[in-house]
Amino acid sequence: MIHMTAHRQKKYNNPVTATLTGIGDLFRKQEPAGRLTDSDRLDGKTVLVDGASSGLGFAIATDCARRGARVIMACRSGIPEKGEKIKRITGNRDIHMLPVDFSDVQSIRNLVSAIREKFGSVDIGICNAGIVPRQSRKTPQGLEEMFMVNYFSKFILINLLLKNDVFKVEESAPSTFSAQGKRVGRSAVPRIIFIASESHRNPEKFEWDDFGKYRDYTIGKSIELYGYYKLLLTTFSFELSRRLNPDGTVRCSVFSMCPGPVNSNIAREAPKVFRPLLKMVFGIFFKSPAKAAVPVLYLAASPDLDGRVFDYLFLMGRKAIDEKAANPENGQRLWELSGDLFHKIENE
Ligand SMILES: NC(=O)c1ccc[n+]([C@@H]2O[C@H](COP(=O)([O-])OP(=O)(O)OC[C@H]3O[C@@H](n4cnc5c(N)ncnc54)[C@H](OP(=O)(O)O)[C@@H]3O)[C@@H](O)[C@H]2O)c1
Repeated sequence: MIHMTAHRQKKYNNPVTATLTGIGDLFRKQEPAGRLTDSDRLDGKTVLVDGASSGLGFAIATDCARRGARVIMACRSGIPEKGEKIKRITGNRDIHMLPVDFSDVQSIRNLVSAIREKFGSVDIGICNAGIVPRQSRKTPQGLEEMFMVNYFSKFILINLLLKNDVFKVEESAPSTFSAQGKRVGRSAVPRIIFIASESHRNPEKFEWDDFGKYRDYTIGKSIELYGYYKLLLTTFSFELSRRLNPDGTVRCSVFSMCPGPVNSNIAREAPKVFRPLLKMVFGIFFKSPAKAAVPVLYLAASPDLDGRVFDYLFLMGRKAIDEKAANPENGQRLWELSGDLFHKIENE
């Protein structure tokens, strides 16, 4: 079970405090890391966005299309109508949809094969899909669904994409600066972006002995576990950056971010009695998906970030990730446990 200090528990341990924390965060002053401008284009880039059928993911895919990217939308639903909608809105015809269910390992394998066969390579990968389930559910491989969708599927997807050379990590141009220090062009270094959450700071510690084990829970525990899986995701992202850029030379930028509270469909499984209230609060206080997508597009498209091995943004502000997530021992342990679990599933 996840243990928390009294202070941490206040912030994200139930839907009400999590919502209030999110609203409070929106009004906190912050120094922006930079600015997304219209000249931050993605022409010639192939961008993979998952969970692009709804909410933030749909808004990210739309803005990527507007900025000239070839967009691959990896989705569980909305095929082909969501892609067609983006073509209509943006006029960009280079929009493609591929099916995936992140709760199923075989479906992730199929997605990777389809990306490799149809597109060869991807320049920017945006791992966005996420859920807050009403209760625990078993995946086809017997794992817990939120563990799988919010964390483990990303470990599997990114590792399979890297293994299949879909991200051109080795061939990347190391620098976009001339000897005089002037910018000479856009970086070819791939970027991998994870949509995490500030709630990753909430759990007090890792529960290594329970890693990957199925557990029963209901809605009350769901929010708490959501923060725990975002901690796993943030720890993985930092460890991934360390492994891809071992000597500090940038071969692949890895970014993570929290979009703040977004008026999306994330609370779709909330108990029926709360839904009208949540809808109203989300509508009044939360950011529209298009606004919430701005920092994601900044991470994807801005040349300001060329040369960075890792970054974490909360809204548009740069922040340090939680110290547990940044600890290399934790990163190493998580990587090993995740790899072992994946091998076990592969051999079953
Ligand atoms: N909303 C917030 O306030 C907030 C705050 C911080 C972080 N985030 C994060 O932002 C990300 C996007 O969420 P959102 O707010 O935009 O919620 P959303 O509107 O519910 O979108 C979630 C997306 O994930 C997809 N998805 C869920 N389960 C999947 C599965 N098994 N396989 C494939 N795709 C799956 C959904 O597909 P379907 O449409 O087919 O279900 C949908 O496209 C999540 O990672 C979330 O944790 C959200």
